[in-house]
Amino acid sequence: MGPLLCLWIAAFAGVGQGCPKPCTCVEKKYGRQLAVCAYRDLQAVPVGLPSNVTTLTLSANKISSLQQSSFLEVTQVQSLWLAHNEISAIEEGTFASLLHLKNIDLSHNQIADFPWGDLRNLSALQLLKMNNNHMAQLPRGAFRTLKDLRSLWINDNKFTAIAEGTFDAMSSLSQLQIYNNPFNCSCKLQWLKHWAENTLISIPERDAISCAAPDNLRGVALGRIPELQCVPPSVQLAYHPNLDSTELYDGFTLMLHCSVTGSPQPEISWKVQTSSQALEIKGPSMERAGNELPAESAKQGAERFLVYRNGTLVIPHLSKREEGTYTCLATNEVGSQKGSITVALASAENPVEDLLRNNLVASRLGAKTCYAEGQADSSMAGEKLVIVYHVPAGTGSSDGGAMLEPQFWARTLCLVIFLYC
Ligand SMILES: *[C@@H]1O[C@H](CO)[C@@H](O)[C@H](O)[C@H]1NC(C)=O
Ligand SMILES: *[C@@H]1O[C@H](CO)[C@@H](O)[C@H](O)[C@H]1NC(C)=O
Ligand SMILES: *[C@@H]1O[C@H](CO)[C@@H](O)[C@H](O)[C@H]1NC(C)=O
Ligand SMILES: *[C@@H]1O[C@H](CO)[C@@H](O)[C@H](O)[C@H]1NC(C)=O
Repeated sequence: MGPLLCLWIAAFAGVGQGCPKPCTCVEKKYGRQLAVCAYRDLQAVPVGLPSNVTTLTLSANKISSLQQSSFLEVTQVQSLWLAHNEISAIEEGTFASLLHLKNIDLSHNQIADFPWGDLRNLSALQLLKMNNNHMAQLPRGAFRTLKDLRSLWINDNKFTAIAEGTFDAMSSLSQLQIYNNPFNCSCKLQWLKHWAENTLISIPERDAISCAAPDNLRGVALGRIPELQCVPPSVQLAYHPNLDSTELYDGFTLMLHCSVTGSPQPEISWKVQTSSQALEIKGPSMERAGNELPAESAKQGAERFLVYRNGTLVIPHLSKREEGTYTCLATNEVGSQKGSITVALASAENPVEDLLRNNLVASRLGAKTCYAEGQADSSMAGEKLVIVYHVPAGTGSSDGGAMLEPQFWARTLCLVIFLYC
């Protein structure tokens, strides 16, 4: 009778106090309330924890996932120890309600995707251990609100890059562990080398902060890699035929050449916006030798445009249909830049004046012919270059035209270039 009663009381107390069976709940000085549930082979966060728990120890269990509901009972928790579990899935919002959290240890789990947005609410956080997981993506603003964070451990993960400024908002940070990540030591990571050299934050194991890529730097410590040439792209657009051409024929071939500089060598893509279509042409549709590729872009009507590896876009038989804006976009890992040219065709039926009227920018700012050398430098920001190929009425088109041979329809070119400044 006696032992049974005791058991009953214990069980009752266990529920009433809110200490679930696998855990030990201990009251400590200064209002601290511990719930210790470590080394219990737990597969989930136990339910029925006292709502005033300030330290919850769940280390070394077999917990594999965390849900939004996992910690709803313990919103007063200040220290949450979850290391050495098997956590791979964490539902968004799992930690967002733990506004008092100061320490969290999620190390030695199998986390690949972390709900980074949850950190926004954890502005009281001082220690964040996420080391020895499988995380590869670190959003730029992940730690933006962690003004009190002192220690950040993200070593032994799969991060290949860390965006510049990622650690800037953490004004209290004194220790940062980032070693043993497979860093890609490209221009994108150049900042980290300089930052690590100059910061007062303690960054241990510097020799283990090393490159996994590119091949020539594999295994080299970030602090010892040579200075990389990192230059954002610049774009210069040229067109042909240009002002020098004195003669032009109906259906002539227009060539736009996008010459780019930058390091690493920028990738070029073209955007074409005409009245009937908008398309993006990535990479060459033509090999250098001029062999046609079975380009997938051909499916979308891009076959009107030939794009070469050297940055040239060719429009054979330019017609009213190809009037529009041609934008060359150059991108490398340092940045991107674009240059645009608007092409219009004027003729007796579509005089230049009409084209201007139809162009709001032109009618507002006026147009002038201030380009002679056939080059548009995109560094002149805010300017819009419009080339108008004017094919004036030939002698034959209106009156005596019927009598002329077709080749007389070839007309002289009047090229007008408008630069809206
Ligand atoms: C926590 O709550 C239990 C009862 O639910 C109470 O006995 C204990 O004193 C509380 N501890 C603190 C630190 O408030
Ligand atoms: C996050 O914090 C905001 C403001 O403090 C609060 O309104 C919101 O409910 C919190 N999110 C969760 C899931 O508790
Ligand atoms: C490293 O980064 C560069 C530039 O972003 C990229 O082109 C390259 O594919 C990356 N290498 C690896 C192994 O991820
Ligand atoms: C680019 O290549 C094409 C095809 O070989 C050629 O017609 C064009 O002139 C080249 N452009 C430049 C600027 O060299």
